[in-house]
Amino acid sequence: MTLVVGHRGAAAHAPENTMEAFRLGVEMGADAIELDVHLTRDGQLAVIHDETLERTTDLQGPVRELTMKEIRRADAGYRFSASDGSFPFRGKGLKVPTLPEVLRSLPAGTGLVVEIKPAAAAAPTVEALRSAKVRAAGAVSVISFDQRAIDEAHELDPELSTGYLLVPFEAFDAGLTWAVQRGHSAVHVYEGDLGVDPAPKLNQARAYGLQVGCYVVNDPQRMQHLAAYGLWAFVTDWPDVGRQTLGPRGAPPSAQPGAQSSS
Ligand code: G3P
Ligand code: CA
Repeated sequence: MTLVVGHRGAAAHAPENTMEAFRLGVEMGADAIELDVHLTRDGQLAVIHDETLERTTDLQGPVRELTMKEIRRADAGYRFSASDGSFPFRGKGLKVPTLPEVLRSLPAGTGLVVEIKPAAAAAPTVEALRSAKVRAAGAVSVISFDQRAIDEAHELDPELSTGYLLVPFEAFDAGLTWAVQRGHSAVHVYEGDLGVDPAPKLNQARAYGLQVGCYVVNDPQRMQHLAAYGLWAFVTDWPDVGRQTLGPRGAPPSAQPGAQSSS
């Protein structure tokens, strides 16, 4: 069964990459939660998508030049706007989380997809995951657009599931070949690049034993379509819609990012 992965938690419903978005993603039935990590000046793993604070918080500046303590002063709910134009999460105490904080709070049975943004965050991410329950459960994947990041993660922990994120319009064959040669478990493709008939790419990956993930799928018809072709997993800003579209969660191990869909 195709896995529903909550993109940045549940980005349509709550400020992305916050504990509230992760809580909602889990509550809405996501099989796994996706998040992004950057390295702070004092070597901590901040869960935030951009390399700077301004798009998602009330503060500014590059994450790599700030300490985690400084970043924690930011209101991570400041920029999120609801469909009526209001800002329901402003001043509600939402912070930029750390990866260990998320790892401690993730409930058993929910998988995790950690996207490493700068390669410098690879080694600390692997270290943070070593003692994590989700790692012991085999339910974590580390992914990146940066080949150096997942290569390093794989070298440091060969048992860890690692996936290569292809940028939009990147040649699938070359990306798949690279991932196979480097021992990675998955490729993650821009949704548009799977096209009307995703079967050739999915079959090619399957022949090499690689999983195919897809980002970002928000349209229920497209979710259904890709699931019918046996896509392994997609990330969505609407995990509730994903769950309603694909039906109830399957029993483990289908909830684990390491499991390959066979249908
Ligand atoms: O899951 C992959 C997806 O999150 C990559 O894009 O920009 O949302 O990190 P982005
Ligand atoms: Ca991401």
